[in-house]
Amino acid sequence: MGWINSLYRSSVGKKSIMAASGMLLSLFLFTHLLGNSVSFMGRDAFNAYAEKLHSMGNLIYIFEIGLLTLFLIHIITGIILYLENLGARPARYSVNTSEGGRSWGSRTMPYTGAIIFVFIIVHLMNFHFTDKSVPVADMVRQLLGRPVLGLFYIFSLLAVVLHLSHGVWSLFQSMGFNHEKFNGLLLKGALVFSILVGLGFILIPVLALFSRSFLL
Ligand code: HEM
Repeated sequence: MGWINSLYRSSVGKKSIMAASGMLLSLFLFTHLLGNSVSFMGRDAFNAYAEKLHSMGNLIYIFEIGLLTLFLIHIITGIILYLENLGARPARYSVNTSEGGRSWGSRTMPYTGAIIFVFIIVHLMNFHFTDKSVPVADMVRQLLGRPVLGLFYIFSLLAVVLHLSHGVWSLFQSMGFNHEKFNGLLLKGALVFSILVGLGFILIPVLALFSRSFLL
């Protein structure tokens, strides 16, 4: 356990933990998006996909415990880093510049993180801790077709886009991909990835709210 202590003692160590857990969480998000995209193929395909997942039994429980651990590591380390940064800053900056990696995404990281945290709790109550005998297509249609909940999903997913845009960029930095020549490209790559992932997810509540035929 000594190595965990030494990782947590340095700021670089904590940033590496954020990068590694963030990368695995992004991988989960991407797979989750691929799974959710089956909804665009119609209700039968989507219900069959969800049933296939449920039939995996214990494998799913192991996956869920791993996922929960990753979320906890990411959130707790993020809070520690945030508090340390607050303590280390003698005075608030009077001017926020966009230079040196300071962007909308980076400035709002703690807030978008908090929104995603609330979203995940609501989301798990909606879809995970629920009656699994209701077909998933009906759940998505009924829940996300409600204006307040549908709009809450869209708002939270925009926070996911902002959080990812800076998160993926920092991930590259922590992995050592830091070169004047390529930084612009990496920044754009992170933005394109997060917007594509976000749009893929956002399409679902938008269709549930506005399409008469989605998942019916
Ligand atoms: C429109 C967007 C989304 C839809 C329609 C959706 C749909 C679902 C559904 C149907 C499940 C339940 C799977 C099952 O147990 O049968 C689920 C689980 C889950 N979702 Fe989402 N999801 C969305 C976005 C997100 C986002 C953005 C995140 C993370 C930031 C997320 C995180 C999770 C987690 C952690 C679980 C639990 C995984 C598990 O129990 O195996 N979801 N989602």
